[in-house]
Amino acid sequence: MGQLLNLRVFDSFESLVVNLSEAISLQINEVLSKKDHFSLVLTGGNTPRPLFKHLAQNYRDKIPWNKIHFFWCDERYVLHSDPQSNYGMAKELLLDNVPINPANIFPMPTSFATPAEAAAEYEKTLKSQFDSSAPHFDLALLGLGEDGHVASLFPHQVTMSEKSRWVVASISSKEPLQRLSLTFPVINRSEMIYFLVTGENKADPLRRALSKERIEIEDCPARGVRPVDGEIVWWVDKKAARLVE
Ligand code: 6PG
Repeated sequence: MGQLLNLRVFDSFESLVVNLSEAISLQINEVLSKKDHFSLVLTGGNTPRPLFKHLAQNYRDKIPWNKIHFFWCDERYVLHSDPQSNYGMAKELLLDNVPINPANIFPMPTSFATPAEAAAEYEKTLKSQFDSSAPHFDLALLGLGEDGHVASLFPHQVTMSEKSRWVVASISSKEPLQRLSLTFPVINRSEMIYFLVTGENKADPLRRALSKERIEIEDCPARGVRPVDGEIVWWVDKKAARLVE
């Protein structure tokens, strides 16, 4: 039985950010009432920027930031100081503005000779933080690309069918071309997945991602996000939800 769709539609991006921030805070505090730390996967791209700013400005004292272990779902293969770096963006907008424990920040490395070596290194990092069965993130924040990609798993690429590696190198059609990405086996071990999808340009990819029609994962990688035991909540604004039946 497929999971029931949990789609939350907001009139504006601003109201989405306010409600999503509160949900993230509640989720973190709920889990930390039972565990000593919280493993959080951050997404990159532009969508999460207002969310990271809002969390830094309004949740500095409402979330025990020092108990959060930060990971990334993907990265552009550029220096962390590059304006296109997902880690660099999160550091500027969130991590530098809340009391995190630097030992708990696990950026994807981008200074190896090749992305494949960096992917292998990040897999070692994940294995050092989780027992080697598979990582089990408490919450993964994911975005949706206009082509239906998720993390840096792009349509018609072999990386999507990866079943054993936890982290792969991939090639984007947009600069920066070289990327690192978690794979579906790892993403789908998350306890909770929040998709953040906003804007008119995401109406069609969201329609395809949620459609009951037979659309292959090859053609819309976001359809490959199927948590084994966890849940997905789609946080979308009205513009992005325009075509959802
Ligand atoms: C990245 C992201 C990527 C992103 C989508 C949506 O590195 O770009 O991790 O998967 O979530 O491309 O990007 P926007 O939020 O910029 O539309």
